[in-house]
Amino acid sequence: MRDHLLLFINGQRHEVRGRDAFLSLSDYLRIRCGLVGTKIVCSEGDCGACTTLIGRTAASAAEFNYKPLDSCIQFLFQLDGTHVVTVEGLRRDGTLNPVQQAMVDCHGSQCGFCTPGFVMAMTGLLEEQETVDEHQLRTGLTGNLCRCTGYTPILEAGMKCQDAEHQRLGELYPAEPMLAEFERVANDSLQLESQSFGERQIACCPVALDDALEFLAANPNATIVAGATDIGVRANKAHQLPPAILDLNRIADLEFVKAEYGELRCGARTSWTTLLAAFRQAAPEFARILQLFGAPQIRHVGTIAGNIANASPIADSLPFLFVMEATLVLASKSGRREVNINEFYHGYKKLELQPGELIVEIRIPLPSESELLRLYKVSRRRDLDISGFTAAVRMQLEGDAIKQASIAFGAVGPTVLRAKQTERFLVGEPLTLETMQTAGDIAVSEVTPIDDVRGSAEYRRQLTRNVLLKFYHQTQGNLAQV
Ligand SMILES: Cc1cc2nc3c(=O)[nH]c(=O)nc-3n(C[C@H](O)[C@H](O)[C@H](O)COP(=O)(O)OP(=O)(O)OC[C@H]3O[C@@H](n4cnc5c(N)ncnc54)[C@H](O)[C@@H]3O)c2cc1C
Ligand code: FES
Ligand code: FES
Repeated sequence: MRDHLLLFINGQRHEVRGRDAFLSLSDYLRIRCGLVGTKIVCSEGDCGACTTLIGRTAASAAEFNYKPLDSCIQFLFQLDGTHVVTVEGLRRDGTLNPVQQAMVDCHGSQCGFCTPGFVMAMTGLLEEQETVDEHQLRTGLTGNLCRCTGYTPILEAGMKCQDAEHQRLGELYPAEPMLAEFERVANDSLQLESQSFGERQIACCPVALDDALEFLAANPNATIVAGATDIGVRANKAHQLPPAILDLNRIADLEFVKAEYGELRCGARTSWTTLLAAFRQAAPEFARILQLFGAPQIRHVGTIAGNIANASPIADSLPFLFVMEATLVLASKSGRREVNINEFYHGYKKLELQPGELIVEIRIPLPSESELLRLYKVSRRRDLDISGFTAAVRMQLEGDAIKQASIAFGAVGPTVLRAKQTERFLVGEPLTLETMQTAGDIAVSEVTPIDDVRGSAEYRRQLTRNVLLKFYHQTQGNLAQV
């Protein structure tokens, strides 16, 4: 049993054990390593000041695939077998890398707090592709906020740096010696433990799913951690992590996507970045919503099962999964069972998931070409914002009449809900403006929204009506998708 994790930071080997294994990556970098170039501003994944690049590798790959992540909501125990690159690690022999130099040349920095995060996010973009256009640059930087310089010089720097030759991280830090070290310990059982002020904390980071289920059977109330984009925020606000943790990050069997027999099957730990790529082909309407999900730093680690199990009534994936009748495969030591997602929520944060159980797979039937599907996310700003209202409307027509209707609303009750009475009313009716106006009246009687900072109950009732009218105009009229 290994009692420490092994990772590299800017090419340096680190063995991390005890209390340090439970620190956020940003705290570890700043406090333990003195790498204070990584800044902490919000501690909630919202500003990108703490962006670092994390290199992971697939089983047989010979190099790391680097992605920008928010280090304030990543924990050390998630990072066994990774190579972390910080803003200090970009400079070689006293020379700034092209992105850093362009930020200087274009005056892209004033107070400087956001600057390392922008530099890391841009370097990450240029790791993925040699050149980016302005749209790709803007999209790639949606997770980074600047409060004083303004974005024009930063975007100019992002475009200008592409004129210079960019040295890839694989050239700066050859992967081979690091991978050789990782290979020696890749299949070890890993259990991390901390004793601090009389309190014991454990994190089990297994490689095999069976070991995870064994740990859950012995610790049925352990907190499951996947990407930690929800848990990390919660832990930072509470200033503590739960006492027993099951980390899924080393379980390769939980990360897969397969499109077959009209459905998309994915492992619980599949990230939104991977799913966004898969849904561009399989269900472009859902991909459009995923493009607005958080920001790249969040999508690279946030997982589908995390979104489902977090059980927020404003979770962006749920309306789609509800109307597509997605199936959740749950596993425990005593076996597997399947649950329709519409039966998974019993109340606010009350799940069908039992202690000792884990979501292992999600099966999503894909929309056929003959059916109509529209998804809606309403938020105060377009990118990196929490939804104030969500909806999914799916219909199949036979001639002029509606043969089948599925409608789900989010942010209008304690859970995402199916508008069953509205669906029943619609079947057999013609798809006309009048039908959808009546459907809107019925739908409003089915929802129970509350007033909160993101909108009043009345506003949400109005949206419930309006999306049904919008669905009609989009599918039967000339209203473009917005
Ligand atoms: C800045 C920011 C922006 C965000 N933007 C959006 C957004 O636009 N839309 C949106 O819907 N959400 C958003 N989120 C929320 C979050 O990113 C998503 O809910 C994400 O999918 C959670 O996945 P995760 O792997 O990070 O979950 P984690 O934080 O690891 O876990 C979340 C919950 O799920 C449980 N869990 C995880 N995996 C499993 C499993 N396999 N089986 C059982 N339980 C499990 C955990 O125990 C925990 O209770 C945002 C979060 C942040 C910080
Ligand atoms: S400090 Fe703001 S995202 Fe981490
Ligand atoms: S330079 Fe001050 S926040 Fe961007």
